[in-house]
Amino acid sequence: MVRTGAMNVVLDAFDAPAPLRMVAYTLGWPFQWLGYKGDPSMPPATRAITALGPAYIKFGQVLSTRPDVVGEDMARQLRVLQDKLPPFPREVAMAEVAKELGRPVDEIFTEFSEPIAAASIAQVHRARLTETGQDVAVKVLRPGVERAFRKDVDAFYFAARIAELFAPGAKRLRPMDVITHFDGVVRGELDLRLESAAASEFADNTSNDAGFQLPPVLWNYSARRVMTLGWADGLPIGDNDALDAAGHDRHALGERVLSLFLNHALRDGYFHADMHQGNMKVAANGDIIAYDFGIMGHIDLYTRRVYAEILYGFIKRDYQRVAEVHFEAGYVPATQDVDEFARALRAVGEPIFGMDATHISMGRLLNYLFEVTERFGMETRTELILLQRTMVVVEGVARSLDPRINIWDVAKPVVEDYIKSSIGPRAIASDLGKTALVLARFGPRLPTLVERALIAQAQEPEDKSARRPWKRAAAAGAAVGVLATLIITHAI
Ligand SMILES: Nc1ncnc2c1ncn2[C@@H]1O[C@H](COP(=O)(O)OP(=O)(O)OP(=O)(O)O)[C@@H](O)[C@H]1O
Ligand SMILES: [Mg+2]
Repeated sequence: MVRTGAMNVVLDAFDAPAPLRMVAYTLGWPFQWLGYKGDPSMPPATRAITALGPAYIKFGQVLSTRPDVVGEDMARQLRVLQDKLPPFPREVAMAEVAKELGRPVDEIFTEFSEPIAAASIAQVHRARLTETGQDVAVKVLRPGVERAFRKDVDAFYFAARIAELFAPGAKRLRPMDVITHFDGVVRGELDLRLESAAASEFADNTSNDAGFQLPPVLWNYSARRVMTLGWADGLPIGDNDALDAAGHDRHALGERVLSLFLNHALRDGYFHADMHQGNMKVAANGDIIAYDFGIMGHIDLYTRRVYAEILYGFIKRDYQRVAEVHFEAGYVPATQDVDEFARALRAVGEPIFGMDATHISMGRLLNYLFEVTERFGMETRTELILLQRTMVVVEGVARSLDPRINIWDVAKPVVEDYIKSSIGPRAIASDLGKTALVLARFGPRLPTLVERALIAQAQEPEDKSARRPWKRAAAAGAAVGVLATLIITHAI
């Protein structure tokens, strides 16, 4: 950062106090010669991040969606990281495609363009299939990207270890676990067969979502380092002028981005976890097209219910309930005071409730949330990292489409729908039904199991069985289980 001049930009963006600047300049002094040079034609922050490596680019992409946190100027510089990074030569990509697909490129395609977009791990070419004449997008991994990521992730492990050793306050943030999680995410991203599978599962889940499209995967033309998709073009979702000129309703688009994400997270438990502007376009008919399925988030049924209850509690301003849910799920240590936590949550929720989002300082809000997690000794939950990261990104994208969008207003109908279908009586009935099915699978063996339990019980000397009341309870439980199974399966 020192060598590229990004240090000053960052210090200014965060209004760093004088003592911090002094430390940064003193420690950074030798790096004006030792640091990576990067590409001098880029603006400082982008130049520094691209010189550092692909893992840092991922981080920069998240920041690029939050001009309200990093500043307009910085966010604009960082947007280059989304899909306009320097590409590698077309010949190299063609050689890679030929190697991966086992046939020469001019045999598979009648046309193969120069790179049309390039981001952290791959670049994309437009091509036409010889067999069918279909227009496609061919995504090719960057040469050496695996090694570059390894180097970055190793550096992150090193930093996490240092933080765990020397910053006791950082322990609750579980730096090593966070990096291990990140490492796993990145590994998945570097195998395009996994991305193809993700694209196909996501397409199945979302086939009925109005105003949403995904390019289809062409499995026969895809491999580990090459992926071919149907061509799907539109206007960049980050280009407000272009959207206005084409007559798209930006407010509606912003709301749709948010509600699609919430629906995917709650309804399907499977969501696109890399929703920065470079991965979305707006089709001519107004549909949102999503690309890039390298990072997908998965949340289990239980976590989804917890998440829905938390969102619902905030929407209803029932901070007590939100606090209780945090304790029930173990997000806040049981030793803390639930009422006090509820009050801290009220201080988060009340000032922003019903407020036009333009008046909310997201930087301050995130800061305060962070303080709350610290005060109540909350630890990082790795299963929630992708969800939290995506909420930050998606809300940023929606706000850049229309600064007045309020996430709570948009979330209300989606969350209410989910609560109705997943937490109310219908959900209980469905849970019971599923339990019955599991029991039914053991059906043929249940009578013998109960009989054996009862015989064992009868044969036990009276005094011994009296000391083991649980055995009697277990036998009774099994008998009730069999009965319930028979009744429920019959009813189903
Ligand atoms: N099917 C498609 N049709 C048209 N353009 C596409 C298609 N797929 C991808 N693109 C374009 O190529 C760009 C780069 O592709 P992609 O986002 O998959 O790469 P990436 O390196 O994985 O990105 P990231 O850094 O976000 O992980 C996209 O931003 C999009 O503009
Ligand atoms: Mg991308």
